[in-house]
Amino acid sequence: MSITIFITQPNGAEEELNANEEQTLLECVQGAGLDGFVGECGGNCACGTCHCYIDFAPQGTVLEATNEELQMLDFVASPREENSRLACQIRITSEMQGMRIKMPERQF
Ligand code: FES
Repeated sequence: MSITIFITQPNGAEEELNANEEQTLLECVQGAGLDGFVGECGGNCACGTCHCYIDFAPQGTVLEATNEELQMLDFVASPREENSRLACQIRITSEMQGMRIKMPERQF
């Protein structure tokens, strides 16, 4: 089942992506060829270059960040906000239909 996710780029442009369940958000965005996530550590929660802001997600669909992710969010390049997350740590589920993600200005 394909899940539609909306990505807003730093310049305001909005992209509509089709994600597959069990992909991570990072895999989804990189697979679509969008710039914005570097993912230097390959999705291992060790670089902070897949930082994003979750502007909307259906309630209860995004699991709480682990302590490891929260610690890594201290090192992201763009301002950390309450809705900051690491895209490599978010696994897509069918309930995330219509989720809205904003890319930060920079990842370094
Ligand atoms: S890809 Fe490195 S922390 Fe997500």
